[in-house]
Amino acid sequence: MKINADRPRDLAAARHRYYDRLAEHFVREIGSGRIRTILEAGCGRGQLTIPLLGKLPTSARMIAVDSSKGPYAGWLNELAATLHGRRLGHRVRVVDSDVRHLEAVDTESVDVVVSNELICDLPRKPQLQKALGEFYRVLRPGGIMVHGEWSSCPTAGPQGLLIRHWPSWTPDHLFVLMRDAGFHSFRVTYFDTTMHLGYENAVGELRTWGWTERLLKRHHRLLKQQGIELPFEHLIRCEKEKHRVE
Ligand SMILES: C[S@@+](CC[C@H](N)C(=O)[O-])C[C@H]1O[C@@H](n2cnc3c(N)ncnc32)[C@H](O)[C@@H]1O
Repeated sequence: MKINADRPRDLAAARHRYYDRLAEHFVREIGSGRIRTILEAGCGRGQLTIPLLGKLPTSARMIAVDSSKGPYAGWLNELAATLHGRRLGHRVRVVDSDVRHLEAVDTESVDVVVSNELICDLPRKPQLQKALGEFYRVLRPGGIMVHGEWSSCPTAGPQGLLIRHWPSWTPDHLFVLMRDAGFHSFRVTYFDTTMHLGYENAVGELRTWGWTERLLKRHHRLLKQQGIELPFEHLIRCEKEKHRVE
């Protein structure tokens, strides 16, 4: 399915629709086991957090973690304000932290860890290994982990602008690193809803990807003619052993 955001005024509704469908996919992957506490790592300004909360049992509590730095500065404050405005504050503990050092979260205190578009921000192996070690520590035995990330495989047709998401860990890379961190029972699924962005929306998006004005100018004609289609997403789900492995 393709969601179109051809004009700037279409963007908010398109994003809302996209994340609502993505949250449904996450909930399917999490499954029907009892969830008391779910930790969202790299929650950002809550684009997934809010629809996810709406689809989880109201008894479920969330720990929303983000370091909110650099291009993401202020995002955690934005989330806190949104939660307050929607009267969801009592269900979410917002934690300003690096996911590689989750001192604020107790060992084996969480039933589920999820993330979306976080892992690409941990492009070096030791960074990802450190984060996976922390996710393993905070998860209770038998806990579930689901990470979603845009694929590095471009979706554009032969005439289109090649939008390549990089850096991007492939499911194979993730399998090896997560297995080495102690996880098992892997499953990869694909979320094949994508968004098509018209010119203005595409330019805004590509700037957040670090595209310079020079690069935007070079591709101006194609962007104007076709906009861009964002990549599809893969989700990797795995579990922590039910019993402690010595
Ligand atoms: C591309 S954004 C995705 C945000 C959100 N998950 C979404 O789907 O809209 C990546 C987020 O991960 C956060 N992040 C990146 N590296 C982090 C780290 N080491 N510790 C905590 N948060 C991190 C960023 O601050 C940012 O909010």
